[in-house]
Amino acid sequence: MSTPDVDVNHNKNIKTEDILCPLVEYEECDFSKLLEKPRLLNIDRQRSLDERSLSELSIGMSPRHSTKGVDLNSSRFFEQLESICSPVGRRSGFSTPRSQTGFDPHPMVAEAWEALRRSLVYFRGQPVGTIAALDNTEENLNYDQVFVRDFVPSALAFLMNGEPEIVKNFILKTLRLQSWEKKIDRFQLGEGVMPASFKVLHDPVRNSETLIADFGESAIGRVAPVDSGFWWIILLRAYTKSTGDTSLAELPECQKGMRLILSLCLSEGFDTFPTLLCADGCCMIDRRMGVYGYPIEIQALFFMALRCALLLLKQDDEGKEFIERIVKRLHALSYHMRSYFWLDLKQLNDIYRYKTEEYSHTAVNKFNVMPDSLPEWVFDFMPLRGGYFIGNVSPARMDFRWFCLGNCIAILSSLATPEQSTAIMDLIESRWEELVGEMPLKVCYPAMETHEWRIITGCDPKNTRWSYHNGGSWPVLLWLLTAACVKTGRPQIARRAIEIAEARLLKDHWPEYYDGKLGRYIGKQSRKAQTWSVAGYLVAKMMLEDPSHLGMIAIEEDKQMKPVLRRSNSWTL
Ligand code: GLC
Repeated sequence: MSTPDVDVNHNKNIKTEDILCPLVEYEECDFSKLLEKPRLLNIDRQRSLDERSLSELSIGMSPRHSTKGVDLNSSRFFEQLESICSPVGRRSGFSTPRSQTGFDPHPMVAEAWEALRRSLVYFRGQPVGTIAALDNTEENLNYDQVFVRDFVPSALAFLMNGEPEIVKNFILKTLRLQSWEKKIDRFQLGEGVMPASFKVLHDPVRNSETLIADFGESAIGRVAPVDSGFWWIILLRAYTKSTGDTSLAELPECQKGMRLILSLCLSEGFDTFPTLLCADGCCMIDRRMGVYGYPIEIQALFFMALRCALLLLKQDDEGKEFIERIVKRLHALSYHMRSYFWLDLKQLNDIYRYKTEEYSHTAVNKFNVMPDSLPEWVFDFMPLRGGYFIGNVSPARMDFRWFCLGNCIAILSSLATPEQSTAIMDLIESRWEELVGEMPLKVCYPAMETHEWRIITGCDPKNTRWSYHNGGSWPVLLWLLTAACVKTGRPQIARRAIEIAEARLLKDHWPEYYDGKLGRYIGKQSRKAQTWSVAGYLVAKMMLEDPSHLGMIAIEEDKQMKPVLRRSNSWTL
């Protein structure tokens, strides 16, 4: 947790604005002016968000089918899936003792729903989010806040259960927070920055409620959450896809909110790479962990958010300009990531034999990475079959650590080619003990120890080896693994992981994370009743029961971004 000693209530820099007026007017937008192909929206609006190709931006439609008869192991699974994803309305039946689909839900499911509902946060009578943890035995710190990233699995659970209102409220509330003036000391943050978290303050005397938010000005290290804006866009697309209600994304406020977020990361500067340069601790790993530079988590979320924005932005004057910039960036970003972040046995061997100090555009070792900087563990970790996107690539630096979130999002967003996605799943299967062990799932692998830990984390006692962000196991990641499994047609992997989690999660009271090489121990400072552990489990269960839910959080490969790119002649995929 990043703010152990700051009481956000007393922070002078943020406006504790009393939001009295309704946030938006729900007026219908005139879509026909916005798209050259108005027929599409008139016929079936919800599908308009799915199939805009990067270059054509054409919108297609597909007939609805039942989910029955879908072969989960078929490589065409995702294609079939895309054609069956229908807007929601229907519930998964998990809140009831017996599922409507005939499955006998695990007894934990009902308990999880109760826990999730207990975590609801209300603002003026409306649910607007879920609290990070409901653990009164530990000091609250900021676990009593609604975190944007933590709310994502909660939101997906509610969407899958046919309860989209809270998601809509959350999207609109955080949008309002975005427009606040954000300052750290005398420095003003970018307009588009979304909060890491927010809280509802009750004033019993005045009998009123106000919102308070943290944009990084209270966080340890004072880092703004780069991931929040990306998750916000991803969630807006999930809401739209799942409900078929395009009116929320069409609101001028939402369009503007998106453009502000995009302005922050598409601006021109001194960059020589299409990846996004970040400070340490600006995402789920919100402490110093050597994830500064170009961390995979941010790059994958960036890619996913760009693809979602492309589906959501209107083609009006302002929107068009962004669409063009996004298309260009996506091409460059996918080339860069697929070429330079990808590691498999062949690639590892190439790096091992790299020449250094090459000058000019003919260089193979473009970033001048020293083969001696290859860590010992990576030679054993790399399976014969399989591969993954490494943690970070920058001049003379490759961080070979495996990070779960970035790799799963790479699969879901189709940043990974189908071959790369399969390779990532192969790696997870072959390195099961290391990555899943006794509790899914390692946030990163391996842990840093001794001297390296001292230098990289700055001696952080919360991030000692195999604990918390430093090789700890986080149950929330179960939903991401499951979604990746469903997308790659490997549901049996998710089933195995869920079974492992079911043996302990409820008994242990939904911990935030587990410690140890195998994830055997409840984390040293782990909160109990951690909401995203609960929601992550529910989303994983619902997605396995009804794989068509995947559509709201996954995007199919864009054929325009092929062919797969090579770094050197020896590299094949
Ligand atoms: C921890 C996690 C962060 C999460 C927060 C609230 O600080 O590192 O990712 O958002 O707790 O649960």
